[in-house]
Amino acid sequence: MKLVKLLANLGYGSRKEAEKLIKSGAVTDQDGKVLGAKDFPGAENVRVIGEELDPSAPLVIVMNKPDGYTCSTEDPGDTIYDLLPPRFSKRNPGLNPVGRLDKDTTGLLLMTDDGKFLHQVIHPKSGCLKVYHAVLARPLRGDEGEVFGSGELLLESETKPLLPAGFEALGETEAVVTLHEGRYHQVRRMFAAVGNHVVSLKRISIGGLKLPEELAEGEWRAVSDEEKALLFAKD
Ligand code: URA
Repeated sequence: MKLVKLLANLGYGSRKEAEKLIKSGAVTDQDGKVLGAKDFPGAENVRVIGEELDPSAPLVIVMNKPDGYTCSTEDPGDTIYDLLPPRFSKRNPGLNPVGRLDKDTTGLLLMTDDGKFLHQVIHPKSGCLKVYHAVLARPLRGDEGEVFGSGELLLESETKPLLPAGFEALGETEAVVTLHEGRYHQVRRMFAAVGNHVVSLKRISIGGLKLPEELAEGEWRAVSDEEKALLFAKD
C-alpha cells in the first residue's frame, strides 16, 4: 500500500481519504493510466488530477519571508505556514523553520522535515554563517565592529557572551552583521547594546546560499542538493 501511505504522508488526506482519492480515479501515472492502491510506479511518476506530487521527504525549501509573518503556529496572526499549500501542514514528517526569524524580520528562511539537517545548519560548530542586513534608527558609533567581534559582548539577562560576530558598515545607518549562532532577537539586541535600534532586518544569506533573486516576498521553492552543499561552503 505504498501509494496510500505516500499520499497520506504528503498531506493529500488521511489514509482513508487517500484510498478514496485513488478509488475516484484521480490518481494516475505520468501517461494518464489510472492507478489502484496496489500500483506504485515511483513517486516521481504519480499524478493527482494530472499534477505532479509534492516533493517527498527529506525536503528543504527556501522562502523569502515577508514582514508580519511569525515562524510559530502557536502565535496568533499570519504564519509562514499560511504561505505554503494547506496540505503541507498535514505532511508527515512536518516542515520546521531552520532557525526562526522574528515576525518583522524578512528574507531567507529555510524549512525542512529533516531534523539532522536542521541541527547541522543551526549549530554554531557547523560554521554555517547567517548574514543579516540591518537598517538602523541612529548613525553608527564607529566601534560596532570591535564590540561585536570581541567575543565578550554580553546581552541583557544572559550569562554567556556572544561568539565573535562579523560587522560591516554600509553607510551611516546601514550595516551587515554575520553570526555563527542564533540567539533570541540577537541582531536587534546587539544593536540595542551599542545604543542603537534596528528599524528593519533582512537575512540575506546562510553560508554560501544567498536569498534567490527570483523569489518575491512570500514565495518559496525546493532547495537543490547543490544549494544544500553551498550552505556549508567556507567561502
Ligand atoms: N536577529 C534578530 O534580532 N532577529 C531575527 O529575526 C534574526 C536575527
